[in-house]
Amino acid sequence: MNRIAVCGISNRGMGMFVEPCVKKYNRENKIVGLLDIDDKRVAICKERIPQLEDVASYTPDQFDQMIDETEANTIIVTGRDDTHLFYILKGLKRNLTVITEKPMVTTAADAAEVVEAEKNSKGKVIVAFNYRYNAVHRKIKEMILEGKIGRVTSVDLNWYIDTYHGASYFKRWNRLRELSGGLSIHKSTHHFDLVNWWINQNPAQVFAFGDLNYFGPNGERNPSKKNGRHCVTCDEQLDCDYYSRWFSRTNGTAVAKDDHLKGNSFEGAYADYTDYRPDQCIFDEDITIEDTYTVTVKYDEGALLSYSVNFSLPYEGYRLAINGTKGRIETTEFHEPSRISFPIPEQTVDFFPIFGGKESIHVVQSEGTHGGGDPLIQEDLFLGENPNRGFDIMAGAEAGAWSIAMGEAVWRSVKDNRPYTIKELVPQMY
Ligand SMILES: NC(=O)c1ccc[n+]([C@@H]2O[C@H](COP(=O)([O-])OP(=O)(O)OC[C@H]3O[C@@H](n4cnc5c(N)ncnc54)[C@H](O)[C@@H]3O)[C@@H](O)[C@H]2O)c1
Repeated sequence: MNRIAVCGISNRGMGMFVEPCVKKYNRENKIVGLLDIDDKRVAICKERIPQLEDVASYTPDQFDQMIDETEANTIIVTGRDDTHLFYILKGLKRNLTVITEKPMVTTAADAAEVVEAEKNSKGKVIVAFNYRYNAVHRKIKEMILEGKIGRVTSVDLNWYIDTYHGASYFKRWNRLRELSGGLSIHKSTHHFDLVNWWINQNPAQVFAFGDLNYFGPNGERNPSKKNGRHCVTCDEQLDCDYYSRWFSRTNGTAVAKDDHLKGNSFEGAYADYTDYRPDQCIFDEDITIEDTYTVTVKYDEGALLSYSVNFSLPYEGYRLAINGTKGRIETTEFHEPSRISFPIPEQTVDFFPIFGGKESIHVVQSEGTHGGGDPLIQEDLFLGENPNRGFDIMAGAEAGAWSIAMGEAVWRSVKDNRPYTIKELVPQMY
C-alpha cells in the first residue's frame, strides 16, 4: 500500500493526484496527510473530496512530524514550483518515494542538488512528465527506437500557447522568475524533456533570444498604464482584449474551457486562497519573465534543436519535425479545439523516408487531459509502471535536471547575449 502525503494542495494536485487516488486507485493507495502553507487550501480539498475529512493536515514546518505520524512512504510534491526543492530534499532524507510535478525545481543549481541528494538516499524521485504519455508522443518514441529515421540529426519544435492559456501565467505566481523559474523553465521543461527523451541525447549548449512582447506595462493592448489591477474588480475589463475575449461580462465566468482555474468561475477564483489572487493584471510592472523565445540547442551526440515558444497566439498547438539519417517525422497538433475558431485537421504522425513515399499514421488516441497523458501516467504512478510498454517512460531526477538546466540556459542567454553550456550550470552532473 502506498501511504501518500501531499505537499501543496494546488488545483493541479487535487485534480491530477488526490481525487484519482481517492476515487480510482484507493485499493493500492491511501492519502494519509495533506500539507499546505494555507489552511484554506486544505479546507477546499476536503470540501471537494469528502472522503478526506479525517485525514490529518500539516504546515510546511511540520513535514517531519507528518511523516512520523502518518507513516507515509510516498510524497507527492505539487505546490508552487519554488516550494518543490524543500519537500524533495526532505523526502529523500527520509528515504521516501518522491513524486514531483514539473518543473522538478526552479534553478539548475537546485536541480543538481536533487540529483546528488538522490544518490545518498534509498528513496527516489519521479518527475510527473505527463506529456511523454500522450499517444502521439509515445508513437514518436517507438518510431525512433525502431530506427525508422536512423540517427537523429535535427529537431524543429515550435510551441504555440493561445491568448487564454498564455495570459493565465501572467495573472498568477508563475509571472515571477523567483517562483516559477520563468516560462523557459516552468513551461518549456515539458517541451525540452520530450525532445531529450525522444532523441535520447543530453543537451550540451544553448543559445537563445527572448523578450516580453505582449504582457507587462508596455504590452500594446494595455488599456492604461496602472499597476495593481485585478481582473475581477477591474473597471477596464471591456477595454482589455485578453479579458473580454475569454470571460463573460456579467459574472467573470470563462467562456471557454479553463485549464488553470479549474471548476471556479474567474469571479470566485481568489476566494480559494488566503493571501493570494490568481487574477492579477497581466500588464503589471512587477512581471519578471519573458513571453517569447527562440532557442538553438546542440546535443552531446550531435543532434541540433531549433525551438520556439510564444505565449500570446491566436490558437494553441505545436509543429514538430524530427530529421534523421534515414528519414523525417512530422506532426502538427492543434490543442483545445473549444478555443479554436477554424476546423482542425486530425493529428497524424507523418513519416518521410529520405528516399521514398510518405506514410501517414493515424494514432490510437486515449481519453483524458493532456492528450490522454494524464490518466496513463496516473496508472504508472499509482499501480506501478506498465511492464509491457517496451520502453522507459517514467522520468527521474536527471531528466528533470537536464530540462531545467536548458530552461535556465535559455533565460540567461537572453539576458547575457551569449551561449551557455549546460556544464557551466550543472557541473556536478559531469
Ligand atoms: N504537468 C502539468 O501539466 C501541470 C499542469 C498544471 C500545473 N502543474 C504544476 O503543478 C503545480 C501546482 O500548480 P497550480 O497552478 O495547480 O498551483 P496553485 O496556484 O493552484 O496552488 C499552489 C499551491 O501551493 C501552495 N503553497 C505555497 N507555498 C507553499 C509552501 N511553502 N508549502 C506548501 N504549499 C505551498 C499554495 O498555498 C497553493 O495551495 C506546479 O508545480 C505546476 O508547475 C503541472
